[in-house]
Amino acid sequence: MASFEPVLLRNLGVENSRSVRVYESRGGYQAARKALKMTPDEVVEEVKKANLRGRGGAGFPAGVKWTFLPKDRTRTLLCVNADESEPPTFNNRVLMESDPHQLIEGTIIAAYATRAQIAYVYMRVEFHEQFHILQRAIDEAYAAGYLGEKIFGTDYCLECYVHRGAGAYVCGEETGLIESLEGKRGWPRIKPPFPAVEGLFRRPTVVNNVETLCCVPHIIERGANWFTSIGPPHSTGPKLFCISGPVNRPGCYESPMTITVRELIEREDMGGGMLKGKRVKAVLPGGASMGVLTAAELDMKMDFEDPRKYGLLGLGTAAAVVVDESVDLRGVLRNLTRFYGTESCGQCTQCREGTAWMYKIATRIAMDAGRLEDLDIILETSRNMGMMPGLSICGLPDGATYPIETLIKKFRGELEAAIRAQPPDRAERVLKVLN
Ligand SMILES: Cc1cc2nc3c(=O)[nH]c(=O)nc-3n(C[C@H](O)[C@H](O)[C@H](O)COP(=O)(O)O)c2cc1C
Ligand code: SF4
Repeated sequence: MASFEPVLLRNLGVENSRSVRVYESRGGYQAARKALKMTPDEVVEEVKKANLRGRGGAGFPAGVKWTFLPKDRTRTLLCVNADESEPPTFNNRVLMESDPHQLIEGTIIAAYATRAQIAYVYMRVEFHEQFHILQRAIDEAYAAGYLGEKIFGTDYCLECYVHRGAGAYVCGEETGLIESLEGKRGWPRIKPPFPAVEGLFRRPTVVNNVETLCCVPHIIERGANWFTSIGPPHSTGPKLFCISGPVNRPGCYESPMTITVRELIEREDMGGGMLKGKRVKAVLPGGASMGVLTAAELDMKMDFEDPRKYGLLGLGTAAAVVVDESVDLRGVLRNLTRFYGTESCGQCTQCREGTAWMYKIATRIAMDAGRLEDLDIILETSRNMGMMPGLSICGLPDGATYPIETLIKKFRGELEAAIRAQPPDRAERVLKVLN
């Protein structure tokens, strides 16, 4: 592991790494040149062979997704998902900040493979600096002849636009993103039809995450076999991991998907261990939406398969938040429920009402006015809104319920003890205010 050479972050810290000149001097745009000499189908095959699984949260294989496009299509559109709206996640930001041409190169190759001639980068609105960085890089790429007409002297043309979002979590969901790009409220669409068949402007559309696309040039340049030689067979290639909370070195690190949560926290070249005097109580290893681990579960591998064994929804965005022993978990419960309660777009009754009710009850608990049965009411609410296929238009309820369910189930004793220890007169006063 120590010998692992960063791939996605190889230009991080290099002087002027954002400029096309430096990117090219370090081998940049060779993969795109190579891809444009292949047929689009050959590029798709190579990405399929590499088993590149989407880094945006769901882990769906990118090459397979590209094959869902109708064979007889006349126009395809590519959307680059740079919304990065999952709490504690900032790997897309680091990629765009440190190496914007890597993303542009990945976008060119993916667009060529899917026969798209327009690519839209949908970027979260809070990324002010990153917007200018990426736009400057796109302008440079146009000036160099890598975007626009006759790329690298071939017949292939690609236009690339950056579209800034309006600050909603649900606009990161691919069909919410598409609606928002069309200038409408970012409400996710009922599927099917899936975007590959009917997406942006009702055209066949591919939506891929920034990190997914950044992997593509390396697959083309070094080959699918090189990519699959990194990590376990179900979780191939390099991966970025974020870590935040009371650790010595919060940040974004690259590794094969063989590392454990414990290693991410403790390794000297990663989290660097807990801050002095702090001990781990809980970890949310995959962003906010995947669920919670206890301190006894830190040997979970950060890959696409292991999290399920710990009752989690998946790897998610691989952005871990560490919660230390001094933290009152009632506050964590409240924070999480507040996020989803605020971000539900409101189209589906059980999501709109369920997330709002969970937030109300969690607030009551956090303010010393909880009742023991509140924990079961939250669990029942979450069971009614999340895991039933076909209930919701998008996946937000799953993400809203996994952290809440796992937190309550794994830390029930502690939450119950906190409720039992509430000062009784305070509960009465708080309930008067809340009701
Ligand atoms: C509520 C919600 C929010 C999402 N937010 C993001 C996001 O910010 N960025 C992202 O890439 N994918 C996000 N996704 C996943 C996308 O719908 C989609 O699966 C992804 O962009 C596909 O790219 P990939 O296959 O390259 O991972 C979100 C999904 C849901 C349900
Ligand atoms: S599940 Fe929730 S966030 Fe998704 S479309 Fe329905 S109401 Fe909106």
